[in-house]
Amino acid sequence: MPVLDGFEECRILKGNPEYRDIPIIFHTARLDVDSITHAFQLGAVDYITKPFNAAELLARVKNQVELHNAKKMLKFVNSSLKKQSELKERRLVSEIEENQKEIIYALTEMVEATSDETGKHIRRVAEYARLLARLHPNLSFEDEEIIYHAAPMHDIGKVSIPGEILHKNGSLTAAETEVMKKHTTNAHEFFKNSERRFMKAADIIATQHHEYWDGNGYPKGLKEQDIHIYGRIVAVADVFDALTHKRQYKHAWTLEAALKYIQERKGVQFDHKTCGTIFRKL
Ligand SMILES: [Fe+2]
Ligand SMILES: [Fe+2]
Repeated sequence: MPVLDGFEECRILKGNPEYRDIPIIFHTARLDVDSITHAFQLGAVDYITKPFNAAELLARVKNQVELHNAKKMLKFVNSSLKKQSELKERRLVSEIEENQKEIIYALTEMVEATSDETGKHIRRVAEYARLLARLHPNLSFEDEEIIYHAAPMHDIGKVSIPGEILHKNGSLTAAETEVMKKHTTNAHEFFKNSERRFMKAADIIATQHHEYWDGNGYPKGLKEQDIHIYGRIVAVADVFDALTHKRQYKHAWTLEAALKYIQERKGVQFDHKTCGTIFRKL
C-alpha cells in the first residue's frame, strides 16, 4: 500500500472512537505468524489471504457483520436494563423519602395538637427556616430541603412533657421551667440512633433551637459556631413566628416590633450573620 500500510490504517481506525467498533478483516498476502499476530493485536477480527475466494470472503464478512450486530444489540439491551434499574432505584429512594416526610408531618401534627402552640406554627417555622437557609450565603439547596423537612420536629420533645406543665395557664415555676426545657434533650432520645439525614438534622434542630449565640441558652449552653447552623436558623424562625402570632399568654406582635426584637437580640440570642442576612435582604 503506497501511503499507509494495513497495520497503520487499522491502528488509526481503532484509535478513533467513532470507528473503533467497526470489525476489520485483513486481506493480505503476508502469511507469516508475526504479521498475523500483529494484525490481531491491533484489533483485527479476521484475515483472508490473497488471492481470495469470493464465497469465503462473503461468508467471513457476513459472520463478522452478524457478530457485530449481535454485540451492538447486547450493549443496547445492557444499557437500557441499567437505566431501568437506576430509574427504579431512584423512584424507590424518592418514595421512601416521601413516606418519611409524610410520617414526619403526621408526627409533628400530633405534637402540634398536644402542645401549647396554636395554628400552623410548626409549618410556618419550616417555611421561615427554609427561606433563611436560602438567603444564607454558605448553605446549599440540599441544606434548604433538609432544614425544611427537619424543622417541623423542633419541639417534638414536648410529647414527653406532662400535660399540666405543657398546658398550664399562667407562668411556670422555676421547677416547671426546668422540666419544660427538657423537651430539647428528650428529643435527642428519639433521634440519637438514626443515621438518616433528616433525622440527624431533626436531632440537631430539636436539641439546639434554644441555644443562645452568647452561650446563655439551653440545654448545653453552646456558644456561637458551636451551635449548628440549622439550630441557629430555626432559633430565629421559631421566635419570629412565636412573636408574630397570638399565644395563650401574649398577643401577636406587629412585624416591625418582631423584627426590632430580633435585631436587638442578634449577637446575644441569635447568630448575627443569620440575622444580618435577613435585614440585608428585607
Ligand atoms: Fe422549643
Ligand atoms: Fe416552636
